[in-house]
Amino acid sequence: MTDILSVRDLGVSAMIGGALVPVIRGLSFDLPAGRILGLVGESGAGKSMVGRAIAQLLPPGFAISSGGCLFEGADLVRMAPEARRALLGRAIAFIPQSPQTALDPLLTVGQQFDEQLRHAGAASRKERRERALAMLAAVHLSDPEPPHPRPAAF
Ligand SMILES: Nc1ncnc2c1ncn2[C@@H]1O[C@H](COP(=O)(O)OP(=O)(O)OP(=O)(O)O)[C@@H](O)[C@H]1O
Ligand SMILES: [Mg+2]
Repeated sequence: MTDILSVRDLGVSAMIGGALVPVIRGLSFDLPAGRILGLVGESGAGKSMVGRAIAQLLPPGFAISSGGCLFEGADLVRMAPEARRALLGRAIAFIPQSPQTALDPLLTVGQQFDEQLRHAGAASRKERRERALAMLAAVHLSDPEPPHPRPAAF
């Protein structure tokens, strides 16, 4: 079976107080197409950091310091940024474990949908709105339409 994802000798380091501190060292695994892979480890072991490294969403000060990630044979770390952007959010998605810190509390859910769908290529505002409402309905959120008129911000 072909591997959809191959992580090879992955190292992630953080710059802390002027020193480079390793967070992940020499991690390798393969994920065959159509299979599910779970990472198990104690809190702080670096499971989320592996996902962030693959999705190229490392926090500020963190960087891949060795190795790489191949997605369908293409090197995610070294590919051109435009090629990577074309994959992220389409072929590769990162779902953060804590929605309270992953979402921006200053933006409405609608605004955050709109921004993502714009990046994903939904050109018209009408199309983005329809897709956002369809996705909210698909996960059975009741009453996804925003209230009219919207309450004043204060
Ligand atoms: N945004 C951040 N800034 C600084 N350090 C971070 C950040 N996120 C994670 N860390 C640190 O990186 C290390 C790995 O964290 P990570 O979140 O990957 O752990 P985890 O295995 O996913 O843990 P959990 O099971 O609690 O989700 C930990 O030492 C953590 O404190
Ligand atoms: Mg985690």
